[in-house]
Amino acid sequence: MKKLVILTGAGMSAESGISTFRDSGGLWEQHRVEDVATIEGYMRNPKLVLDFYNERRRQLPLVKPCRGHELVAALEQWFDVTVITQNVDDLHERAGSTKVIHLHGELMKATSTDEPNDPTQIVTLDEDHMDIHIGDKAADGSQLRPFIVWFGEAVPEIERAAEISSQADIYVVIGTSLNVYPAAGLVQFVPDHSPVYLIDPKDVPWSSGHRYRHIKKGASEGMEELTEMLKLIAED
Ligand code: OAD
Repeated sequence: MKKLVILTGAGMSAESGISTFRDSGGLWEQHRVEDVATIEGYMRNPKLVLDFYNERRRQLPLVKPCRGHELVAALEQWFDVTVITQNVDDLHERAGSTKVIHLHGELMKATSTDEPNDPTQIVTLDEDHMDIHIGDKAADGSQLRPFIVWFGEAVPEIERAAEISSQADIYVVIGTSLNVYPAAGLVQFVPDHSPVYLIDPKDVPWSSGHRYRHIKKGASEGMEELTEMLKLIAED
């Protein structure tokens, strides 16, 4: 089976009702990045940051995968698919995708403030324990924090994501403004001969020299169109 790699961003989940960050009305118009998405912000006001992610997490049971997520999952019939997502929601998994790399962490997980990337500290939250409160402790005794990669923090999954991108036979980018590195640089690892498709209703700054075909539509409509094209390639 051909290796198909799909890099997704907030636009992938927009049709599920989760706000993007940089579109008008997006999350970064309502909250300061420095306050809620940096370690410094968290150290300054941990309650504000815990509450911000508690609110995001409480949204999850209220939303469901969109047609775009479902079509991404359905591609596993024809391809060896890996999804590399910048999204912290669990909509790819809920749609049925089996290989999902979360570059920026996962809302439904929590970890230690002292050792956030130590796998023994990471716990999964559930619908009965959706919130993280001040005083909740990780296994190492430090304050429990969201398992989210904040600006300025290392991105532990980036090497695996780069390796997988470098092996892609086909690459698809959906709903990301390609503003945030290192995620935005992954396209540079895609082999020159592998076709790249972009699904986004807007133009995005494309810094890689790799040619790409832009399907200028939303995630669901764009995935309908792309699926028809990819089915033909799978049969080659
Ligand atoms: P952005 O909000 O920067 O970009 C969203 C992209 O989705 C834009 O290019 C939109 O045009 C596109 N879009 C909007 N609606 C769409 C739809 N219905 N279908 C398809 N595309 C649509 O979000 P990201 O690029 O994902 O990180 O942001 C990257 C990172 O910045 C996030 O992971 C987050 C944020 O700060 C952290 O919090 C660490």
